[in-house]
Amino acid sequence: MASPYAVGRHPGWPARLGPLHVPAGVVELRVPRITDGRAWSRIRLRDQAYLEQWEPTVPGTWAERNAPGAWFAQWSTLRALGKRGMSLPFVITVDGQFAGQVTVGNVIRGSLCSAWVGYWVAADIVGGGVATAAAALVVDHCFTTAGLHRVEATVRPENAASLRVLAKLGFRYEGLFRRYLDVAGAWRDHQCLALTTEDTPTGLVPLLVAAGKARSA
Ligand SMILES: CC(C)(COP(=O)(O)OP(=O)(O)OC[C@H]1O[C@@H](n2cnc3c(N)ncnc32)[C@H](O)[C@@H]1OP(=O)(O)O)[C@@H](O)C(=O)NCCC(=O)NCCS
Repeated sequence: MASPYAVGRHPGWPARLGPLHVPAGVVELRVPRITDGRAWSRIRLRDQAYLEQWEPTVPGTWAERNAPGAWFAQWSTLRALGKRGMSLPFVITVDGQFAGQVTVGNVIRGSLCSAWVGYWVAADIVGGGVATAAAALVVDHCFTTAGLHRVEATVRPENAASLRVLAKLGFRYEGLFRRYLDVAGAWRDHQCLALTTEDTPTGLVPLLVAAGKARSA
């Protein structure tokens, strides 16, 4: 039997999502490009203190892992996972400029049809509605074109901004994973929050628009 993760066209990736107007600007999602390295590195090196505390521990210094040349390995890994249908990796742009990433990972099909979502945005645009818009766009995409049934997010209890993003989108608290992930050098508890298609029959973007938090172009 052919592997469900063979290289080829999988539902949901590549894709372009948006635009959606939020206070920070016009949010769109597109596939990562090899040419994103300079913008990605500039933001990541500048925002180390703000990002590092929430990101999984990996070998190497922050400067090494986020140097412009480090993008190629990340880009090619994301692209390979996307091509195999194992992940839906997107770059977030605001007014056409690289502003962060939102990734749907660990896509499991069959009788689970589930995945996780993760995101980060540049420090100079926080509080502008970007992550909420990006997550809404990608979850709606997961539940329609990509054919998934459940999307979960795992968040450290201390990450109030990320928990607020998920609360605005109606993610349901499902439990606490003890010492779940090695983040910033230690095994950290994470809250698990999730949505299934039944929770959002009309989609998340229409909810944001109706609440006055976003405007479709
Ligand atoms: C979490 C993150 C993605 C949020 O991005 P963002 O674009 O600022 O998100 P939004 O503007 O859509 O929403 C953020 C909400 O959190 C609120 N918020 C921000 N900091 C907060 C804090 N310390 N306590 C409580 N609420 C907070 C904002 O006021 C906003 O809510 P509001 O719209 O009701 O005012 C961003 O801060 C980030 O990239 N952090 C570092 C990486 C990270 O934590 N990723 C997620 C890992 S689970």
